[in-house]
Amino acid sequence: MPALRRKPIVAIDGPAGSGKSTVAKLAARAAGLQFVSSGAYYRAVALLAVRGGVAATDEAALTALADGVNLRFTTDDDGAVRAWLNGDEVTDALREPAVEQMASTIAVIPPVRAHLVRKLREYGCDGGLVMEGRDIQTVVFPDAEVKVYLTASVEERARRRWEELRARGETVSYAAVLDEVNARDARDTARDAAPLRAAPDAVHISTDGRSIAQVVAAVLALLPA
Ligand code: DC
Repeated sequence: MPALRRKPIVAIDGPAGSGKSTVAKLAARAAGLQFVSSGAYYRAVALLAVRGGVAATDEAALTALADGVNLRFTTDDDGAVRAWLNGDEVTDALREPAVEQMASTIAVIPPVRAHLVRKLREYGCDGGLVMEGRDIQTVVFPDAEVKVYLTASVEERARRRWEELRARGETVSYAAVLDEVNARDARDTARDAAPLRAAPDAVHISTDGRSIAQVVAAVLALLPA
């Protein structure tokens, strides 16, 4: 009897602004797989910390929050993905600048990562999902059927981020956003705990000069038949 094959896991990693989240959502929808943002887990712990007045230096409290976090995703008919934290919708709250800053800070704390990696593995243990993040193909699911490392130039990623912020009505200069993206890259790649890097067998795809549809098609072409 042939071995039972789980449904595939597609691991998409890359730096902030590379288009991971957009590409992962569309690829998941097209392939009938569940979309999971691992960054949302780090943001969810950050949101609980911000709401609860927990300091970024209080590792014990942050670790306890990570241990208790219960995040789920649902997809609307139009493809919009909603995040639910311990039963409450937190889709917009997870994108607040204070939460984003805190997420980047707590992501370097090893016991916080250990809890979140465990939860992400539990979420994905049956396969059938597209998970995006920084360490999905190297740490969370090193045996994922498909590993994609998405890249884009830092200028392009800063431009996307700047446009996103302006669309939200925030007044910020492109130069400031470029500095912020550079700083975040440095934190994400230089940290000791699960730094951002591609798996040796990852397929590298640059989103510079490619449409979203072209990148999604390139990811879908990697799925097992
Ligand atoms: O992808 P994102 O912007 O939602 O991620 C939020 C933060 O969490 C970001 O600073 C990087 C961190 N993160 C991480 O360390 N490991 C992951 N697998 C996903 C995100």
